Amino acid sequence: MLLVGTYALLFLVGPALSVAIESALRDPSNLGNTCTVPAGGSESIDDAPAILDAFNKCGQNGNVIFSNTTYYINSVMNITGLKNCLVDIYGTLMWSTDIDYWLNHSLPVGYQNQSTAWIISGDQVTVDGHGYGTLNGNGDVWYAFADGKSNYPGRPHALTVANTTDSKFQGLRFIRSQMWSLSIIYTQTTSFDSIYVNNTRSTGGAGQNTDGADTIYSSFISFSNWIVDNGDDAISPKANSTDITINDCTFYNGAGIAIGSIGQYKGVYEIIERVYANNIKFIGTLHTIYFKTWTGEQVGYPPNGGGGGLGHASSLVFQNMQAENLRGAAFAISQCTTFSGAAGNCSSSEFQLYDITFKSVSGTTLSNDVASFQCSAVEPCEDIAIIDESLVLSSNGSTANSYLCYEVEKPMGWECTGDACVGGTATGSC
Ligand SMILES: *[C@@H]1O[C@H](CO)[C@@H](O)[C@H](O)[C@H]1NC(C)=O
Ligand SMILES: *[C@@H]1O[C@H](CO)[C@@H](O)[C@H](O)[C@H]1NC(C)=O
Ligand SMILES: *[C@@H]1O[C@H](CO)[C@@H](O)[C@H](O)[C@H]1NC(C)=O
Ligand SMILES: *[C@@H]1O[C@H](CO)[C@@H](O)[C@H](O)[C@H]1NC(C)=O
Ligand SMILES: *[C@@H]1O[C@H](CO)[C@@H](O)[C@H](O)[C@H]1NC(C)=O
Ligand SMILES: *[C@@H]1O[C@H](CO)[C@@H](O)[C@H](O)[C@H]1NC(C)=O
Ligand SMILES: *[C@@H]1O[C@H](CO)[C@@H](O)[C@H](O)[C@H]1NC(C)=O
Ligand SMILES: *[C@@H]1O[C@H](CO)[C@@H](O)[C@H](O)[C@H]1NC(C)=O
Ligand SMILES: *[C@@H]1O[C@H](CO)[C@@H](O)[C@H](O)[C@H]1NC(C)=O
Repeated sequence: MLLVGTYALLFLVGPALSVAIESALRDPSNLGNTCTVPAGGSESIDDAPAILDAFNKCGQNGNVIFSNTTYYINSVMNITGLKNCLVDIYGTLMWSTDIDYWLNHSLPVGYQNQSTAWIISGDQVTVDGHGYGTLNGNGDVWYAFADGKSNYPGRPHALTVANTTDSKFQGLRFIRSQMWSLSIIYTQTTSFDSIYVNNTRSTGGAGQNTDGADTIYSSFISFSNWIVDNGDDAISPKANSTDITINDCTFYNGAGIAIGSIGQYKGVYEIIERVYANNIKFIGTLHTIYFKTWTGEQVGYPPNGGGGGLGHASSLVFQNMQAENLRGAAFAISQCTTFSGAAGNCSSSEFQLYDITFKSVSGTTLSNDVASFQCSAVEPCEDIAIIDESLVLSSNGSTANSYLCYEVEKPMGWECTGDACVGGTATGSC
């Protein structure tokens, strides 16, 4: 009987945690002012000043309304201090393609030298797109500009939710985000429900580095009913992400759910704890779940370099997952991330992964590798459970039966069938 102790408890805690987060949130109420943002109606008129003005007038105890029209955003927006505010988005916000401007003006996010086009920050804020409101990053120009350049400094995220508490974001659409669609930093008790992300180029194929959402220094965050079609991580808990739930989502084409990268800052202790995913579909993604940590040696500086970080990821449960044509190992760990392009020392990371459960996983895969776990010799992975897994090969329906590992202690419910390849890539396995 594998389902004992801590694991049994975690299966119960996950759903309870989502309910706890969502029921803690109160809708804004007793709103005094309503500000409907006027639209300039032309891409030569920057609507950012009118938007900032509306938030200045109605950001506290008020309702800001974006009408069913297109707003053109040609400059950065740092909207902070919101309190008891309802934001209705019935139209489209369309960002300008002046790469030179954005590279010089994007706002720092506060981690990994990342930057952003729009910051929202406040308490008891509801942003409701009603299933229609759209943030269009006009990303085609960015995808062409940044191809092969990894984390290009100054390339902006579409939206950053920073220093926010007790808030809800729902019914929003992110189309062709400039880079990551959403970063969430220094944020607590906030839900993101019914969000559609599609970072497919207008010419087809996904833009690079177009994550759905990343969490940093944040806790009690719930993601539910997301659809993500992109070229990178669907949802990625990073440094100090704790009590995160991911429920009822469908992810297309990208890399899957990424834990990390983490361990990028030399000597700095970071954690990822209590991440629960339940009822997730993975269609044509590389993995379902994968982990990436930097090596024990620092090579260069963030965003593209780093390493030597400490910490752990633990108490993580991923269950009820359906896969269709996975492209790589369903579950992957690589502790080999180092400066882009260079081959790292996979044995040296001091960031430890333990107490991780994958439960009830079915569907099809192009890879015979169910697991590829390349763990660090310095801090081996421990207590990784795979329970009720029945992946079959798309080609002929036979059972996928390869479980590769390196430095994994106390596997539960599976046995290692061979060595994980050394020299993994930033997206896990080789
Ligand atoms: C916005 O207008 C379009 C037509 O221009 C319409 O199809 C759509 O339903 C409207 N959306 C909302 C939220 O009113
Ligand atoms: C961006 O910065 C560069 C170098 O500082 C400068 O030459 C250029 O004029 C700036 N462009 C804009 C649009 O501000
Ligand atoms: C955004 O505005 C807040 C409040 O004025 C300020 O503290 C913060 O530094 C600003 N952030 C950026 C990135 O400019
Ligand atoms: C961080 O970003 C700034 C501009 O946003 C850039 O000038 C600097 O080179 C970047 N640092 C690294 C290490 O890439
Ligand atoms: C959020 O808090 C951090 C850390 O206290 C601070 O550095 C940053 O400027 C704040 N950002 C905003 C948008 O308020
Ligand atoms: C994303 O957009 C592309 C191109 O517009 C479309 O073909 C694809 O079906 C969309 N994906 C999802 C999941 O809606
Ligand atoms: C991250 O979490 C660790 C462990 O709890 C803590 O020591 C550290 O101060 C946190 N870092 C930040 C920036 O909150
Ligand atoms: C890789 O790291 C391990 C653990 O720190 C160390 O023993 C080994 O010598 C390193 N290998 C290389 C090639 O540097
Ligand atoms: C199915 O395909 C795999 C990989 O090509 C092969 O190893 C396996 O023997 C095949 N199984 C059957 C029943 O044909």
